[in-house]
Amino acid sequence: MLHSPRSVHLIAHVRRGAGLGLVAVGILWLAGCEGPLSTLEPAGRGAAQIAELFWWMTGGAALVWLSVVGLAVYAIRVSPEAHSVRKAKWLIIGGGAVFPTIVLSGYLVYGLALMPALLAPAGEGGLQIEVSGEQWWWRVRYITPEGETVELANEVRLPVGRRVDFLLSSPDVIHSFWIPSLGGKLDMIPGRVNRLTLEPTKVGTYRGACAEYCGTAHALMQFYAVVEEEDAFAAWLTRQAKPAAPPTSALAARGQRLFLSNGCGACHTVRGTEADGVVGPDLTHVGSRVSLGGGLLPTEPEDFLRWVAHTEAVKPGVHMPAFGMLPDEELRALAAYLSELE
Ligand code: CUA
Repeated sequence: MLHSPRSVHLIAHVRRGAGLGLVAVGILWLAGCEGPLSTLEPAGRGAAQIAELFWWMTGGAALVWLSVVGLAVYAIRVSPEAHSVRKAKWLIIGGGAVFPTIVLSGYLVYGLALMPALLAPAGEGGLQIEVSGEQWWWRVRYITPEGETVELANEVRLPVGRRVDFLLSSPDVIHSFWIPSLGGKLDMIPGRVNRLTLEPTKVGTYRGACAEYCGTAHALMQFYAVVEEEDAFAAWLTRQAKPAAPPTSALAARGQRLFLSNGCGACHTVRGTEADGVVGPDLTHVGSRVSLGGGLLPTEPEDFLRWVAHTEAVKPGVHMPAFGMLPDEELRALAAYLSELE
């Protein structure tokens, strides 16, 4: 077939455009592989195995797709007479039954072989952390080596290289606990305790999320998993077990008085003070956490102010009432107190 110089130019133009479009789509697609919620950048043993399985399945799917498209092209263009039922029989039996059975059995055996290591409990030397899915935040409990219970919220700290049993529960609705960089997810079901064992292999800060629709603020129910060296983890747990230090500035001291007189202690505990509520998150060391409100805000004084004054605007559906009616200087004092709780 002959093309005029003009049509050759047009075809080249279209090809270049399509190529650039594909590259752009590819870059956008690959951008999804990175980041603190990535399953393809594993930082844990379980996540690495799941990612490996994913790549084998993606490769297999690509091969199957290429074979099917290749056969279709063969049937239409190269050997149209293969359309006859007799000649296509081998294709129907081989391609429709034998081939999928072999491929899927291979994947089944491979997947089942991964399971025992993924599901084994932490055992001797492992760590146990209780996590309860609340509406809509995460209650986290550690037992220290001294046997004390330490409660915090929306954050787990883990020592690198140690297996951890997460004992997952919920008082009311079903949630699902997921730290994509570390491993698979597991449901938190009222009336049950489910065990999820993870083994972080890389120091870093990773994101966790609720992976089961649980109500209004489901999408805003996040947390952080901070993986540290063993020494840093032990020091952190020792600090978390201590009661809150008294306020160091006049502003923070005023904030503490306002915290207690406004009834915040009916829902929140600050160990070392008379605030001992259990409905909301324990705030004893809230200033040392990575995030506020379940992964929504950092923990600078202005974030505490925004949270306390505009709770419902920051997190629609939240059960905590906003305290925006308080005068600005009282909100500042409260924010100073809370951010000092480190
Ligand atoms: Cu909790 Cu979705």
